[in-house]
Amino acid sequence: MDTALAEDRRFPPDEVFAATANADASIYERDFEEFWTSEARSRISWFRDFETLYEWQPPYAKWYLGGSLNVCYNCVDRHVEAGNGDKVAYFWEGEPLGDRRALTFAGLQREVVRFAAGLRQLGVRKGTPVGIYMGMVPELAIAMLACARLGAPFTVVFGGFSAEALAGRLTDMECEVLITQDQGWRKGRTVPLKANADDAVSRAPKVTTVVVLERTGQGAALTEGRDHTWASVVAGQPDDPAACPCEPMDSEDLLFLLYSSGTTGKPKGIVHTTAGYLTGVATTHHYIFDISPATVYWCAADIGWITGHSYIVFGPLANGTTSVLYEGVPDFPERDRWWDIIERYRVTVLYTAPTAIRTHMKWGPQYAEQHDLSSLRLLGSVGEPINPEAWIWYRKHIGGDHTPVVDTWWQTETGMIMITPLPGVTTLKPGSATRPFPGVQAAVYNESGEPVGPGAGGYLVLKRPWPAMLRGLYKDDERYRATYWSRYDGVYFTGDGARVDSDGDLWLLGRVDDVMNVSGHRLSTIEVESALVDHHDVAEAAVVGRADAQTGQAIVSYVTLKAGVDASPAKLTELREHVAMRIGRIAMPANIVFTPELPKTRSGKIMRRLLRDVADNRELGDTTTLADPAVVEEIKTRAVTEA
Ligand code: WTA
Repeated sequence: MDTALAEDRRFPPDEVFAATANADASIYERDFEEFWTSEARSRISWFRDFETLYEWQPPYAKWYLGGSLNVCYNCVDRHVEAGNGDKVAYFWEGEPLGDRRALTFAGLQREVVRFAAGLRQLGVRKGTPVGIYMGMVPELAIAMLACARLGAPFTVVFGGFSAEALAGRLTDMECEVLITQDQGWRKGRTVPLKANADDAVSRAPKVTTVVVLERTGQGAALTEGRDHTWASVVAGQPDDPAACPCEPMDSEDLLFLLYSSGTTGKPKGIVHTTAGYLTGVATTHHYIFDISPATVYWCAADIGWITGHSYIVFGPLANGTTSVLYEGVPDFPERDRWWDIIERYRVTVLYTAPTAIRTHMKWGPQYAEQHDLSSLRLLGSVGEPINPEAWIWYRKHIGGDHTPVVDTWWQTETGMIMITPLPGVTTLKPGSATRPFPGVQAAVYNESGEPVGPGAGGYLVLKRPWPAMLRGLYKDDERYRATYWSRYDGVYFTGDGARVDSDGDLWLLGRVDDVMNVSGHRLSTIEVESALVDHHDVAEAAVVGRADAQTGQAIVSYVTLKAGVDASPAKLTELREHVAMRIGRIAMPANIVFTPELPKTRSGKIMRRLLRDVADNRELGDTTTLADPAVVEEIKTRAVTEA
């Protein structure tokens, strides 16, 4: 059943909240050019002011042309210069109980300066590509800021990715330096980051320098001449900002690449540059999370994803916000860990993903009830469509039945939140991300590129460039054009389905391409297929996402083994481990169905639609184009017996 239809409660803005909110209704009337010009001038400190707001040569945009600035200066130094050095930038909570640290803006500046000076001594300069593979420790943010300070573009690789996934990214970006740590903490166990890094670096020959933070103290072998501990890199370095000044960067200089799954096996290097990205994330963070000097903000994502880049590191720091940074999982040591953190730091804004909310829902509200969550005044959601039931539960059990919930739609590519309510302004509808952020133009198109009417579904497109938009795919112009700009002329194709209701509000319906969304993480079906086919016993594989009440989607794979190989439970485990090794544990299929054949059209194309229907237990659509209709019946029987 479509639960979106069953839940029709509306939540108009609360008057008390609205009275002090950063946004009011007039924000939607602001002129696009005036909006992005004045936000950039008021929110960002420029070494040299920009001359031209933007230049649009489809499909490439440039923003704030002629400007010069530094992201680290904006996130750190200027707050200290303005007398806010004693304000806490991060309350860091390690996973082991009692392992915590408060880092002020002045403290952050000292650490960033020392580390940047150390990197400089190791040869990092403006333009040196750096890879970062770490857990959720303050040094991860420090490393990103130090790179930005020096003008060294970086790529952060999520600590849950495998050595092979890391190697692919390091090679693609031609990284010369890798910053990592001995191990990470996860649910009381350690994650072997340095061991993976060693494996990756052996396949990425351009990496000649590795910096290793000692986090768990359980030791990591160092390679003489190549590896340096973090402690040795910062030892003896000055913490005076003038000793390692912020490199003036052009507005359009590369800030970072973030690799994301697309519809082919190879992840795409999404390009983000300096001024537009920073303006976009600072502006959206300010209005959408209603940031004030008193805010204690917690985005419970991982910095390895775009959400962490934009809304744990750059947006909040640019706005001088106090944030919480948590290293571990929600149920370590107990299921009330998050609520303990909120009570301890008097968190006012919580931003997380529907999959996490549904997990807490499954555990039950009693864990939240053990804690005083009355400091919360605003909740946010991101990463996948939020089902109305989870939305209502979140507001009721976490938000004390009074906080606004902002459902924010965006992508790695958009860099910043694009579709969202504004708290204090927008009437909220559980399950709807409502409307485009000021200055953003979205629409829902049918196949022929016409806007659909109220109630109808179609494809979400973005009609006008925005400051934080990707500047392309790294070294792959053709794929950039094909992925985002070929379906419709001159508009950005998001890959998401959506519908508009009679108020003009948007409801996101999930991906329309071969990208899966598992626990809010983007994975490509083809990437998982390639990993499976790469196993010596696999003849053929097809991967689809099926609906899952908890994780949004779960990965189902259909595998044909080579002749003579037994479809045993041991083989199943082996294949799942193989995928984990190739990509990471997040990509491990929930089910593997062994089948003697895959359903194909007469021209030999695998019929994924049919496999999706089987996985979701749906009535099968048209099977007349199948080369051998018996194959589907066979798979259905096996899918049931092996589920
Ligand atoms: C999905 C994460 C519905 C969507 C920031 C998008 C959402 C993909 C929402 C991007 C939302 C993200 N409602 N769907 N509020 N937010 N998505 O690049 O399918 O990891 O295309 O960026 O997540 O995932 P990515």
